[in-house]
Amino acid sequence: MNRATVQLAWQGRGGDRTPVQPVWLEPVGGTSGPVRFIHGDNQAVLASMMGELGGKASLVYLDPPFFTMRDFDRVTRRPNGQSAPIRILTPAFEDRWQSLGSYLDALRERLEVLRGLLAPHGSVVVHVDPRTSHYIRVLGDEIFGPDAFASEIVWRYRRWPSRTPNFQRVHDVLLRWVADPTTPPRFNQLYEDLAPSTVKTWGRGKQRAVFDGEGRRRRSSTEKSESPGVPLGDVWDISIVAPVAKERTGYPTQKPEALLERLIEACTKPGDLVIDPYMGSGTTLSVAAKLGRKALGVDQSHVAVAVTRERMQRDGVEYGEYRAVPIGARDEVRRQAP
Ligand SMILES: C[S@@+](CC[C@H](N)C(=O)[O-])C[C@H]1O[C@@H](n2cnc3c(N)ncnc32)[C@H](O)[C@@H]1O
Repeated sequence: MNRATVQLAWQGRGGDRTPVQPVWLEPVGGTSGPVRFIHGDNQAVLASMMGELGGKASLVYLDPPFFTMRDFDRVTRRPNGQSAPIRILTPAFEDRWQSLGSYLDALRERLEVLRGLLAPHGSVVVHVDPRTSHYIRVLGDEIFGPDAFASEIVWRYRRWPSRTPNFQRVHDVLLRWVADPTTPPRFNQLYEDLAPSTVKTWGRGKQRAVFDGEGRRRRSSTEKSESPGVPLGDVWDISIVAPVAKERTGYPTQKPEALLERLIEACTKPGDLVIDPYMGSGTTLSVAAKLGRKALGVDQSHVAVAVTRERMQRDGVEYGEYRAVPIGARDEVRRQAP
């Protein structure tokens, strides 16, 4: 379906689609609980789970590879007596593509599946960076409809400066679309602190606008009750995961829990389902469980799945772990069984 008036074109677009191999989920560990995670390709897994999950998710958050043309390793450290710990690199995932077109093809096919998972009050948030965010904005408008576009959140962080004859790149972009623009989306108003200058001039009391007879705002009056702060804007200052942070797993590209906390608190309520198709180290799952939400994650990297398992165990989160098995392969296993 194409509801956008503007379409993104690229060489080879509309060519052969990758056939989706239906899969079944083999339980491999854990029990049950608010969290499930699955080792497999997200398109095959989520398309195969459409009967169970279709229309159920309040939030789908995806943090796909960013089209960096790089390989990513997990970093762990082994103690080494009195000397510096030994740094161990384990290949975690590849972010290499034939072309930008093949990257966009893969993302488009997945966004189309993800659209079917959203509840009418749900939203999808795509976490990317300025390398591709402009293309994905147009692609998302095509898939979800331009009226469904809700926010562009800029996540601003501080990091070690790089040597570049350019402005330092210190932000990512989170693009949010709602499932159905005619249904009020799940949205809990969050607040940030009042600016110090506001507190200095007006104190911490709630401000109320005072209008004249023609509806023009004339001044504001300060009430006795305390202000909850300023309604949260779309530029978020949140630190990246520090090298010594307790939440650090060593998984490359791990996102901070504070970022996911904001998103999940704003876009869902307790008991809601959150889906993360590019689960990585399980940040979304861990935060969702702490906030009393249900969560499902998918990742095709066995390193990601191992890190998520460790993280759930460390955080005391009950989980079920599964492996995606192609349907044909399951029949093969059955035929060979004695
Ligand atoms: C940027 S990382 C996600 C990091 C995660 N948000 C975190 O906080 O740890 C992207 C992840 O997507 C996974 N991935 C890439 N393509 C995938 C696919 N087709 N199906 C499932 N997982 C995929 C990679 O293995 C990688 O773990």
